[in-house]
Amino acid sequence: MDYLVLKHAHAGLAYLSVTLFAARAALSYARPALLQGKALRIAPHLIDTLLLAAGVTLAVLAGFSPHNQPWLAAKLVALVAYIALGSIGLKKLHGSPWRAVVLALALAMPLYMIAVAKTKLAWPF
Ligand code: HEM
Repeated sequence: MDYLVLKHAHAGLAYLSVTLFAARAALSYARPALLQGKALRIAPHLIDTLLLAAGVTLAVLAGFSPHNQPWLAAKLVALVAYIALGSIGLKKLHGSPWRAVVLALALAMPLYMIAVAKTKLAWPF
């Protein structure tokens, strides 16, 4: 598959993943029961798996590795933080005011990753 097509698919999946995460975070306050529905439990895993598979394929095709591209290393650290904070924020801390902080930090991770991917800078600001 053409690199550019895969890059656009990866970027599209990234925007979808952030949007879905923000929607799930909002629903966890407004309508938590809806998060138990089959679609909302499966779709994020499907989208994130495709997103990561496309990202890894792009990196391999382009010869990028966290060793030769500091921005990619930063992206992977943010990815681990996104997964950890996202799962703590959505599954734990119910009733705690820290939950909103953790969810906001989780949401900041993919936004940072998008800025990192666009600038190829670990500090894109
Ligand atoms: C939540 C996870 C991720 C998000 C939000 C994300 C976001 C993005 C976005 C928006 C782009 C397009 C940048 C542009 O417009 O030029 C991109 C490109 C890219 N991403 Fe990701 N990404 C994620 C995960 C990953 C992972 C896990 C890897 C690799 C292991 C990866 C590797 C790449 C590569 C190699 C490019 C293409 C760089 C280029 O050729 O310009 N991404 N990413």
